Parts: sequence; C-alpha cells; structure tokens
Amino acid sequence: MVITGGAGEIGSFAGELFVEEGSKVLLVDLKKEALEKAVQSIGSDAVSYAVADVTQPEQVEAYVKTAVERYGGIDVFLNNAGIEGPVHPLPAYEVDDFDKIIAVNVRGVFLGMKHVLPVMAEKGAGSIVISSSIAGVIGSPGMVAYTASKHATIGIMRVAAIEVAPLGIRVNTINPGPVESRMMHRSKERILKNTPDGRYATLEEIAKMMLFLASDESSHCTGGMYMVDGGTTCR
Ligand SMILES: NC(=O)c1ccc[n+]([C@@H]2O[C@H](COP(=O)([O-])OP(=O)(O)OC[C@H]3O[C@@H](n4cnc5c(N)ncnc54)[C@H](O)[C@@H]3O)[C@@H](O)[C@H]2O)c1
Repeated sequence: MVITGGAGEIGSFAGELFVEEGSKVLLVDLKKEALEKAVQSIGSDAVSYAVADVTQPEQVEAYVKTAVERYGGIDVFLNNAGIEGPVHPLPAYEVDDFDKIIAVNVRGVFLGMKHVLPVMAEKGAGSIVISSSIAGVIGSPGMVAYTASKHATIGIMRVAAIEVAPLGIRVNTINPGPVESRMMHRSKERILKNTPDGRYATLEEIAKMMLFLASDESSHCTGGMYMVDGGTTCR
C-alpha cells in the first residue's frame, strides 16, 4: 500500500496501524528526514519510504513505480498529503497561496489517482481513501483555498468511484474534523464550541476509519464521504 503525506501525523500513524494489520507500506512525502523518522519509529521491515512531491507528475509516476517494484502492486492507496495554508479573509487571500494549496491538495490528489488507478485496474482490485475534511462539506471562514480544495477532492472521488467500480476498485473520502495534531492549532475554543461531542478526533479514530475503508469489511462502500467529526457537520 501507499500513503502520501506519510511523514505527517495522520499518514505516519496510519502507516503504523496498517503495518500492525499486516500491510506492506510505502510512505511518500516531501520530507526525507521526517520519513526516515517515521520508518524508524514504526520499526518494521514492512515499511519503507520514497521522497516525492505529489504535485509533480514525474515524481508521482516514480513513487508508483517504486511501490510496484518493491511490493508487487498497490492494493490500498491513502491519498492523504495536504496543506492547510494561511488564514485570511477572502479578499486578502494571496493568489500565490491559493495556487500552492490547490496544487498540493487537488492536483496532487488527482495525479495520485491518475497513476495508481491503472496499477489497481491491472489486478482488478483496490481501495483508495482520499483525505478530505469537514472543510470539504462546509465553509471554513478565512480558509478559502483549503475549503475549495477539500470540496474538490470529493468531486475527484465521485468521478473516480463511478469510473472504476466496474473494475473492482473502491474510492471514498474520509472527512475528519480537527484532529489532535499539529494542524488543529487554531482557535481551540471556537472549534470545540462547534463540535457537538465537544472534543477533537484522535489520530487513532482517523486511522481506523481508513483501515475500515481499505478492508473488505467495507466491500460495498464506494463513492462515499465518511465523516469523523463528532457531529460537527450535522448543524
Ligand atoms: N489534522 C487535522 O486536523 C485534519 C483534519 C481534517 C483533514 N486533514 C487532512 O488530513 C491530511 C493529513 O493531515 P495531517 O494532520 O497528517 O497533516 P501533516 O501536516 O502532519 O501531514 C501532511 C504531510 O503532507 C506532506 N506534504 C505536503 N506537501 C506535500 C507535497 N507537495 N508532496 C508530498 N508530501 C507533501 C507534508 O510534508 C506532511 O508530512 C491532509 O490532507 C489534511 O488536510 C487533517
């Protein structure tokens, strides 16, 4: 299996859980040192890494090739790399920031699909989990690029799910609310006030949803958004 953003908090935590469950895991990320650390901390022969920028087509092709050569194919793909960007009201949002966030969160997710789907199609099986967010279904003030990008991942998921269902490949998104991790550094009080169950998600809760969607336990689940948000998007 392949996890992009594999050196990050959700990606590396999921990597550890999937290794425990018997998967062979390729962690993909921009950050070599963080990847080395993640592999070391998981501490298993079943995990390795590849450095790649998910926005660059030839680097995406290269990590897919590495996974196929190293592990004989890709059965599960956590299309997870993402950046949050700055927080500004829309008129003050810099064009360069907008483009950068869209490049990683939309182009990067698209490129991953483009190169992983043919590999899965060859085997006639596979499960892809894209990391969207609650920002994929509601507006997050101050975060226009992130919100647009996470909505866009749902569009990519829906198109792919329809296209590849006949090939035995499933595609879903997970949509976490703020996770107890670095990304949720802002406005804790506001976040908690808006979360009906009054707390953040844990990394384990996110990774276990990924595990469910990757496994045959979810064999009829495709084209869906799986909220892990304590009821936030019910409002
Ligand atoms: N943490 C949260 O509260 C939260 C909530 C909802 C959704 N998400 C989503 O979950 C995913 C993972 O988030 P996280 O909390 O682990 O964040 P994180 O910042 O810890 O990890 C993201 C990883 O992606 C990598 N990355 C960024 N740009 C890249 C690029 N161009 N090529 C390759 N790798 C790149 C980073 O180096 C980093 O290691 C993201 O898509 C994020 O939007 C997170």
